[in-house]
Amino acid sequence: GTTRHYKFNIQLHNVTRLCKTKSVITVNGKFPGPRIVAREGDRVVIKVVNNVSNNVSIHWHGIRQLRSGWADGPAYVTQCPIQSGQSYVYNFTIIGQRGTLFWHAHISWLRATLYGPIVILPKKNASYPFPKPHKEVPIIFGEWWNADTEAVISQALQTGGGPNVSDAYTINGLPGPLYNCSANETFKLKVKPGKTYLLRLINAALNDELFFSISNHTLTVVEADAVYVKPFETDILVIAPGQTTNVLLRTKPNPRNSTFLMAARPYFTGQGTFDNTTVAGILEYKLPSPKAVNTPISSLQIPTLPPINATSFVANFSSKFRSLANAQFPANVPQTVDKKFFFTVGLGSSPCPKNQTCQGPNGTKFAASVNNISFTNPTTALLGAYFSRRSNGVYTTDFPSFPLMPFNYTGTPPNNTGVANGTKVVVLPFNSTVEVVLQDTSILGAESHPLHLHGYNFFVVGQGFGNFDPQKDPQNFNLVDPVERNTIGVPSGGWAAIRFRADNPGVWFMHCHFEVHLSWGLKMAWIVLDGKLPNQKLPPPPADLPKC
Ligand code: C2O
Repeated sequence: GTTRHYKFNIQLHNVTRLCKTKSVITVNGKFPGPRIVAREGDRVVIKVVNNVSNNVSIHWHGIRQLRSGWADGPAYVTQCPIQSGQSYVYNFTIIGQRGTLFWHAHISWLRATLYGPIVILPKKNASYPFPKPHKEVPIIFGEWWNADTEAVISQALQTGGGPNVSDAYTINGLPGPLYNCSANETFKLKVKPGKTYLLRLINAALNDELFFSISNHTLTVVEADAVYVKPFETDILVIAPGQTTNVLLRTKPNPRNSTFLMAARPYFTGQGTFDNTTVAGILEYKLPSPKAVNTPISSLQIPTLPPINATSFVANFSSKFRSLANAQFPANVPQTVDKKFFFTVGLGSSPCPKNQTCQGPNGTKFAASVNNISFTNPTTALLGAYFSRRSNGVYTTDFPSFPLMPFNYTGTPPNNTGVANGTKVVVLPFNSTVEVVLQDTSILGAESHPLHLHGYNFFVVGQGFGNFDPQKDPQNFNLVDPVERNTIGVPSGGWAAIRFRADNPGVWFMHCHFEVHLSWGLKMAWIVLDGKLPNQKLPPPPADLPKC
């Protein structure tokens, strides 16, 4: 492979959306940020220079970072933040992955404006396992607030209230014609008739899973989280924050209209207020001029999308994903399990701090947890503490393998919604096979949580509704061609079972990719120990690794 060099200057830039201009934190003055393009096998070297007053850190979401955990990016997990005026060089090789991923800030809520696509092309002379597209187009969904990101964060965290409502969803940074004062900020995809396009869909929204569709067009799903899947057709997609999906769009050979609308809006199962608006973009055919009929946007049909809480649609859609599992792209699903975990993921509450009004149940403050442990960010990075064998006081290794407070997850919410704070990790021996059942708790109402694991892809061997049954449910696990991904929507009021092999030494974050739940503590970390051989060990940190 070759080496690709990028320079990311973190700088302020004025951006106007919905008739309001605000100064936002960007990479190189671009919103959304620049695209990283590399081939499988390439080395990617990105120098990040922090020219704003905030602390910054960038995560290369879904990149496996095999033995390069120092470049993973989550603040206080694999590195201390890059402070104002400082820089850090992220250096990693893309091994065994091709497809679409994305990069985003991994500190506070800065990813609201700091995000961009990662396009990994197959190795030279390697082809796609599907028809070669005429063109490839990244489509990245986001959320836009008129208020400053700082104000959005503090409202969400300091009042202990519900998720913040954004003012718009965006496609490639643009809210589109269905919002007030936004018609000029509309994403337009220009296509030719009778061609195949590869759309690289990325959900970079902070707090919402999204439905997406293009009027009068069927899409063929070919890839998820940078792993090929058995192709299937669909009119409507569901994509959770942290997930990426590649689809083929075959354009009509003889369209009667030249323009069609595409649209996305949320799938939401929780409580509280939410943004129920729709972002739209335009699919525009280049037709020979006598045939071109330019329909005004107002008379275009918005694609039909499921209702906001269409959980059975989502479950049905996610069950369609299957690994290719063929000779060229095998699915190495662990057939036996060394370490089993049962993790409850969900919301709870903690006492309301004095002098605050909190909006949680009975005046408490909302919290979120894994196995009733609400993760507290340490004051120095876990990876550095682990590597230098100076973990004293930074973290403890007693993360519970099973919930501390068992209850019926689907029943009436239990009285005890309490969480305990802590910085606890699970230690895994090198190369152990791991199974984690993720159970939505329904403590404060059932809610779908997009769980994301750093440093690994995992196989989704099963999922279902209600309480996971450790006797019955494993009998139906798919150990042949389960989908392999880095982010799974744990079904609302249900569970998902994942398996992975701990072959990547380091410290790896696992968390809900809803920013508000991440802030409330729905996160934990794994320490994966070195193996015995030299190529099974994490190398020492780079000299410019930031200090806290
Ligand atoms: Cu895309 Cu830890 O996140």
